[in-house]
Amino acid sequence: MTEEHLQTMGQQLGRRSWAEPWKIKMVEPLRMISREERLRAAQEAGYNTFLLRSDDVYIDLLTDSGTSAMSDRQWAGIMLGDEAYAGSRNFYHMEAAVQNYYGYRYVVPTHQGRGAEHLISQAIIKPGTFVPGNMYFTTTRLHQELAGGIFVDVIIDEAHDPANLHPFKGNIDLEKLERLFKEVGAEKVAYVSLAGTVNMAGGQPVSMANVRALRELCDRYDVRIYLDATRMMENAFFIQEREPGYSDKSIAQILKEFCSYTDGAWMSAKKDNLVNIGGWLAVNDDDLFQTLSNLVIVYEGLHTYGGMAGRDMEALAIGIEEGVQDDHIRARIGQVRYLGELLTQWEIPIVQPVGGHAIFLDAKRFYSHLPQDRFPAQTLAAELYIDSGVRSMERGIVSAGRDPETGEHRYPKLELTRLTIPRRVYTQAHMDVVAESVKAVFDARHQATGLRMVFEPKYLRFFQARFEPF
Ligand SMILES: Cc1ncc(COP(=O)(O)O)c(C=O)c1O
Repeated sequence: MTEEHLQTMGQQLGRRSWAEPWKIKMVEPLRMISREERLRAAQEAGYNTFLLRSDDVYIDLLTDSGTSAMSDRQWAGIMLGDEAYAGSRNFYHMEAAVQNYYGYRYVVPTHQGRGAEHLISQAIIKPGTFVPGNMYFTTTRLHQELAGGIFVDVIIDEAHDPANLHPFKGNIDLEKLERLFKEVGAEKVAYVSLAGTVNMAGGQPVSMANVRALRELCDRYDVRIYLDATRMMENAFFIQEREPGYSDKSIAQILKEFCSYTDGAWMSAKKDNLVNIGGWLAVNDDDLFQTLSNLVIVYEGLHTYGGMAGRDMEALAIGIEEGVQDDHIRARIGQVRYLGELLTQWEIPIVQPVGGHAIFLDAKRFYSHLPQDRFPAQTLAAELYIDSGVRSMERGIVSAGRDPETGEHRYPKLELTRLTIPRRVYTQAHMDVVAESVKAVFDARHQATGLRMVFEPKYLRFFQARFEPF
């Protein structure tokens, strides 16, 4: 075989190949069950990938949350757990890492992101006030609504168009936001809920120019900005790559500058911070910190552990330092892009540009013959699983839930199936297997008939809803 016939991926793309900045020290065997067994498992799970047993999954792209591989340093940190009820030394390590890399003054630990969302919503939101944000996130909006807030989407319109190539589709539309300030009165706005790399939009970033201008606008109206920092390190990579003036700055420098335009942040450390469990809240305001560090005791645990074991906080402190390294983020986003490039070459509809943590299949175009209330994205997740044991998740009408006022389904413009890539877990060969499965399901797309929902829980229905073939 000549060199022309066999080319590395780098050669095919006209560049030198890159590789992950780590090698594998421990492995976990994978098992693929037969197609008949997968069909049965899908049926038993009500065609909801959240209800599958992970033993029945081959390549698990359900989420990047809590699924990272920890490093040898993090595992060593686990052995240094100080499990004192109060004042564990691991808390102080974690606190110092958050202060050092994110730049906020005060840190409150929580068991995971939604614990932090709960506390900040309860502490700040008064019933009937507005919470504008750059597209909703499921748990974030629910906690804001449970506290009596009214969420208002103020993301730029481009974010709702999966084919639009805007480089910062996570940006806030400042005119929409100012209109809201004027319409309802800025004093009726609890805070601006800003997210880095907007999950529901396809992992799309926010630019530094946007957050800077947002700060200026909010200062004029005396409104605070709180950041969902869950994937903010990945957001920093896109700023470094795409925004003039940032190519020579490190991810760490960009992260800190971005956070400096906000008043605080909540964090699901299960993503960027490379741990399997954990979260935190960080703020600059003394009074708010007092309220939060009192509330955390009620709902999570003492203010120096907040629901985490000492060992978890140590792994988290180390994970923050590892997560912010430029070579780590480049390889992480590079792997997501590799999968995206394959699917794009094969003309499979995905959200463009490819975002930070996942490939989002555009189920509306994929199954253009299915109406949205036959749950095309849910159907696609089920079909992928049946084809190859690859587990993905729905991010469309099921995730959007019902309007609390009318009780009707919300019909989001984006109807997506998310292939989420865990950090430091899978190889390029796994990505090839995934890509081929997506292609096989795409080739058989006309046979899909959709699903009907037969069980619907009250809150966050996408986690537990059950379906049957239509
Ligand atoms: C953007 C975003 N915010 C908040 C959360 C909630 O975090 P957790 O799952 O740790 O409760 C998630 C988790 O999926 C997320 O993706």
